[in-house]
Amino acid sequence: MINKIIMATNNKNKLRETRDILSPLGIEVISLSDAGIDVDPDETGETFEENATIKAQAVLELTDLPVIADDSGLCVEALGGRPGVHSARTYPEHEECAGLLEDMKDIPEGSRSAYFQCVIVYMDKNACIVFSGKCEGSIGFEQKGENGFGYDPVFMYEGRTLAEMSEDEKNSISHRGAALRDLYEYLKERNSEENADK
Ligand code: IMP
Repeated sequence: MINKIIMATNNKNKLRETRDILSPLGIEVISLSDAGIDVDPDETGETFEENATIKAQAVLELTDLPVIADDSGLCVEALGGRPGVHSARTYPEHEECAGLLEDMKDIPEGSRSAYFQCVIVYMDKNACIVFSGKCEGSIGFEQKGENGFGYDPVFMYEGRTLAEMSEDEKNSISHRGAALRDLYEYLKERNSEENADK
């Protein structure tokens, strides 16, 4: 029976979004610092899946608990898929929206398609399962909204930015929400199978 999972992050937004979705299962999701683990492996992979796997493996080596690791980013068509796996490092922290708007200042409406991608890897001593989700939209021309994090204030989805949405609304359409709902189904199934075996 899985009742506690370490999430390989200390990012409060990711933790909150994850806890919101997994909480009905009664599974406690703890951060690296909650678990007393201090590890920050280099994300040297070329794909979201490689980077999530690197993070999950590094943590699993230090614990007996199951681990989930998430890697995510924004892919902008007009920038050839950038910032992609480098989303967290392309612009200075808290300046990612301004930096992206500057890089896209000459790109007209209609050519500003973008998507968020999220890959979540679940890993324990016997299993490694990959879940993924995508959220398709476009990049606006200015920052709007106060919620969320990262590129949310410039990412347009059906006429609004993600930063203009409530947490629940964002979870219902987001890349991370989609991957987490698949993870939720997997964990629910596993726990019910293990209960049935008792
Ligand atoms: P990671 O921690 O390596 O997965 O970094 C992902 C980066 O992509 C974050 O630092 C954000 O800049 C961006 N990102 C990922 N998901 C979101 C999201 O839901 N909203 C806004 N930005 C995001």
